[in-house]
Order: sequence, then structure tokens, then C-alpha cells
Amino acid sequence: MKKFKLLVLAGDGIGPEVTDCGLQLINAIENKEDISFEIKKELVGGAAIDAFGEAIKNETIELAKKSDAVLWGAVGGPKWDNPSASVRPEQGLLKIRSELNLWANLRPVKIWKELIDSSSIKKEKLENVDILVIRELVSGAYFGKPQERRIVNGKREAVDTIYYNEDQIARIAHLGFKLAKKRRNKLHSIDKANVLESSRLWREVVQEIQTQYTEVDFQNILVDAATMHLIREPSDFDVVIASNMFGDIITDEASMLSGSLGMLPSASLSNLSDEGIGFGLYEPIHGSAPDITGLGIANPIAMFLCIAMLFRHSLNLENIALKIESSVADTIKAGLRTRDIAIELKESISTNEMATAIINSYNKK
Ligand code: IPM
Ligand code: MG
Repeated sequence: MKKFKLLVLAGDGIGPEVTDCGLQLINAIENKEDISFEIKKELVGGAAIDAFGEAIKNETIELAKKSDAVLWGAVGGPKWDNPSASVRPEQGLLKIRSELNLWANLRPVKIWKELIDSSSIKKEKLENVDILVIRELVSGAYFGKPQERRIVNGKREAVDTIYYNEDQIARIAHLGFKLAKKRRNKLHSIDKANVLESSRLWREVVQEIQTQYTEVDFQNILVDAATMHLIREPSDFDVVIASNMFGDIITDEASMLSGSLGMLPSASLSNLSDEGIGFGLYEPIHGSAPDITGLGIANPIAMFLCIAMLFRHSLNLENIALKIESSVADTIKAGLRTRDIAIELKESISTNEMATAIINSYNKK
């Protein structure tokens, strides 16, 4: 029997609701397959601020380091939204990304044929859209120093710094080229090299590495042009690499191609092997969604797809990942819809009904 340690950080808003569904799936997998999990749970985000005065405890980071993977729900909400507060829920997420060195953030954007009408983009533009954004996650504008407020001549100023060194860029570039080779052999690198020095270094390093992967169809693209092209011809993209902030922006845009944020998982990885297996934190893209918290209507699919990614990238159990993904696909094909992806609201089902349907489908595989 294979044994794994899993740390579950459900967080705020709909985080706990979708994480509960994820744990039901994990339980079903334990009952069916020859594996078991030792599961620990901790508070993060606003819930941790309320309980301990900080968005993540150092003990929680230490627990994460001892786990095989971390499942993350969502953090934040109006209660903790004051921008001048000294502790904010998002700090928990940034701290765990940085302390666990989760430098590679994989954000796949796939279009489900059955849901093509939920997107605001024309149908014919969406056929064949299948994008993998790899966002650099532990450097750039999010972590560069100085990052501060100051008073100069009696006036308020603020400064953020975009910092990259060549090693941080090189590892993202290698991962981008390697994953492109396993997909449709195409890579776009996003930057703002016409303005930013950090982007000029980014472009230079990526181009040096490109000489080792000449079989990959490679293009640099400026971030402003990329945001436009992503809407105009989204199927042109296969793998995309981007710095921390550009990756943040571009993935929200890309997520809208698929119609609902409730369908998109993400993996934040470190210590990656050449096969892309490593330690990881798995997190739905959708966030804490305070407007629907507690209504039982959140879509658990992103969380299920996170668990599939967890089996693929941290536990190296591709067959289970594929089974989870095909259970989700079957359930969508069968016409089951939570409210966010339903055309007719009255036909939508609850979070738990969706979770149960997917788990039933898994159990039959
Ligand atoms: C994301 C989010 C976070 C980020 C926030 C919540 C700090 O937008 O994961 O994309 O900016 O990285
Ligand atoms: Mg974001």
C-alpha cells in the first residue's frame, strides 16, 4: 500500500465547501485503490487571522514541508479587505509560495465542448483551445525589494521592484520548452522587453535556452500584444511562459475563454524532476467567491481537477489523474451543471450533488 501525507488548507469563503468535496473524492480513491493518505488540516487566510492574528502560522509551513502535497482552497473576503490592514489573507498564500519555493505555477486552460456556450468569446474561436500557462511564482514584482511606502518631502510615495536573476528565468524557460515538447510543440514567452530591463534579461535568457530546443516552435510576445491575441486567436497558443505579474494577469484573461472560473485548477511546484514530478500546492483558480459562500452552489470541479493534477505531478500516479479527469468529463457530458455553468438556472444542481455524481462515476471506473 502506498502512503502519502497531505496537508489540507481550506481557507475562507467557498474554500472549505469545495475542499470538503475534494476530501470526499480522496476518500473514495482510498477505498478503491491501494493507497492511503495521512491528512492534516490547518487554518489559513482570514480564518487564520481571526484565530491567530496571522494569515499562516510558521508551524503550518513546517507541516507543509513534511507533506507530499498541499491542497489549498481559497483565501480572502470582505471581512479582511481593508487595504491598509497590516495583516491580509493573501499574505498566507504569498508566504507559502515563497517559503516552499513553489516557482512553477501551471495553469492549464482547456475548453469543454459542452460548455462552449458559457464563454463570452465566439464559439468558432474556441474550438481547439488548449493552453498551459506556466507562471513564475516566487520572484518578480511580487517579491522584489524595495517594496515599500515612504514619505518624501511630506508627500506619500510607494515603490515596488521587479527583480529577476538568470537562474529564475532559465528554470521557467526549460520547463516551458520541455512541456511544449510533450504537447503541441509550441511556446510563447511573454515579456515587456521594449520597456523593462527585467524583461530584456528574461528575453535574452529564454533565447539562449531556446538553442537547446530548436524543434519547438518558439515566439517572444509583448504582454500587451499577448492579451489581445489571446482573445483574437486563442487557439494559436500552446504553452506560455510568463513572469509572476504578467502570468497573474494573463491567466485571469485566459480563464474567461473557458466560460467559468469554477472549472480551472492550478499547480504550484518545486523540486521538479525532468518528468515534471515534484512537491506541489494545488489550488483552484476561482478564489474565495464571498458572494456565493454558504449557498451550496459552488462548482467543485476545479478542486477535483486540482486533485487530478496532484496525483499527476506530486504522487506520480498518472492513471488515477486520468480517471478523475474522465469522471469529470463524463459528468459534464451527462449534462450535470452547477449554477456557474448552467444555461438554465433552474436546471442547476448543488455543490454536493455535482461532487457525488463525479465520485459515483469514479467508482465505476
Ligand atoms: C492568483 C491570485 C493571487 C496572486 C492573489 C490572491 C495574491 O490572484 O493566484 O492568481 O496575485 O497571485
Ligand atoms: Mg490572479
